[in-house]
Amino acid sequence: MKFFVDTADTDEIRDLAATGLVDGVTTNPSLVAKSGRKFLDVVQEICTIVDGPVSAEVTATDHETMLKEGQKLAALAPNITVKVPLTPDGLKTCKSLTDAGTMVNVTLCFSAGQAILAAKAGATFVSPFVGRLDDISSDGMQLISDICQIYSMYDDFETEVLVASIRNPIHLTEAAKMGAGVATLPPSVLRQLYKHPLTDSGLAAFLADWEKTGQSILDS
Ligand code: E4P
Repeated sequence: MKFFVDTADTDEIRDLAATGLVDGVTTNPSLVAKSGRKFLDVVQEICTIVDGPVSAEVTATDHETMLKEGQKLAALAPNITVKVPLTPDGLKTCKSLTDAGTMVNVTLCFSAGQAILAAKAGATFVSPFVGRLDDISSDGMQLISDICQIYSMYDDFETEVLVASIRNPIHLTEAAKMGAGVATLPPSVLRQLYKHPLTDSGLAAFLADWEKTGQSILDS
């Protein structure tokens, strides 16, 4: 399973990339706005930090302009993945960019039917939003399960399921059990994954006992 981080904060990305566990980055217009930086500058910098796919989203809504924006973004770095919304124009743009060899992430997916359309349009990734479905009392994880099942039945669907809008570690582990290929994690959730109270208390006990021995591995 690949881990992407869901942020446009380059300090956070640098810090998390140093763990060696980060395979890519996703941004969206809201995350870029939160960074307070110029869009092209920030995505270009992210592409120098992470070798894997870096999603950068178009903001036009018509095919012709989306395509121009997508081509401009794709020219920034070889690991740019152009993010397009799951609309008729977005999927048309997905097809054009994919045919030209550009990676595309189809975002704002909220149904299995939409995910089938994204696969047929040749998307590299489809981003179903788990947390936003949960927010409206719909079952976000059921959508991931449905998409994983459908995609697994068709050899010609090469689109990877990129689980998005993850809000907690349970979303991540449930997605992993379903075989989703990628999860994009807010930095806080990635850090939460390390935590377990028994790890903390167990380590404290080991260290206290070790201290009593008066030994040092490096001085032995
Ligand atoms: C990632 O590609 C999405 O834009 C992101 O995961 C959305 O998350 P949110 O619903 O927490 O804003």
